[in-house]
Amino acid sequence: MGKKYLKENSMDIYKKRTKPQLEYRDEALKREMMVLVAQLNGLDYVPKVKGIARDSKSLYLELEFVGGETIMEVMNRERVFGLGTLEFWETLAERLGAVHDCGVVHHDVSSSNIMVRGVIYENDPVILDFGFSNVFSLMRPGYTVGNPCFIPPEQAQAFPFPFDINDPRSDIYSLGALMYYCLSGNYVFTIPKKLKLDKSKKGQFLAEMHVRAKPEPLHLRKKGVPLSLSGVVMKCLKKNPDDRFESAQDLAFALREVRKSL
Ligand SMILES: Nc1ncnc2c1ncn2[C@@H]1O[C@H](COP(=O)(O)OP(=O)(O)O)[C@@H](O)[C@H]1O
Ligand SMILES: [Mg+2]
Repeated sequence: MGKKYLKENSMDIYKKRTKPQLEYRDEALKREMMVLVAQLNGLDYVPKVKGIARDSKSLYLELEFVGGETIMEVMNRERVFGLGTLEFWETLAERLGAVHDCGVVHHDVSSSNIMVRGVIYENDPVILDFGFSNVFSLMRPGYTVGNPCFIPPEQAQAFPFPFDINDPRSDIYSLGALMYYCLSGNYVFTIPKKLKLDKSKKGQFLAEMHVRAKPEPLHLRKKGVPLSLSGVVMKCLKKNPDDRFESAQDLAFALREVRKSL
């Protein structure tokens, strides 16, 4: 958990604050509260909302504190997730499927928005950060929403192309990109070292790659990844949503088949 938050959080409340530099943050935070309370309240793998308040610093949500680490924190330490984590991914796909069944598409499935409650082998992923779910209003020309390392092509090119904000297959792409990253230790796409880009251009460059570039198959990127698992992850990463798994539950099923065959 981010050190900067620790001092203002007691053991059971996490204060999620708006980031003042982003003009839409209040809107996103209120939207997140509504989604968590009205649509996802019955799911015990998304944080419960305890309240919303404003102090001299900013608007903040009081969320149930999740004890554990984000995938990003685990990756910073471990560098790669082994094949023993397949059940974790299967559970995450099932849980994402249940979120979709509640009418919510996340649109920012990423290494910092999934937490590992307890330890990875307890298979208890928690899904955070619903500020961008089903919100076309926050997407504007020249402004994309979502982490560019995991962004689905249709979301990266939301303008001027038509883009269905309620299509769960966008999240399946991001989950595929996240699995690719964790299972290989490499992002699907990276910026060539010799290309000197400033920070704002980097995101745009990566997003463009998700739209146009061909990803290297996972089993070629990482030795020891079985072809069957590589096939499942690469199917999530198809440019056209019609070529991906139809639902996150179908993805969970495919991951289970792989796990049982190993
Ligand atoms: N309920 C929670 N319990 C514990 N840590 C949390 C909780 N919600 C968020 N965090 C931590 O704060 C970080 C940022 O929260 P997040 O909801 O992703 O907001 P944003 O990315 O919009 O700032 C997360 O990556 C995680 O480390
Ligand atoms: Mg986040």
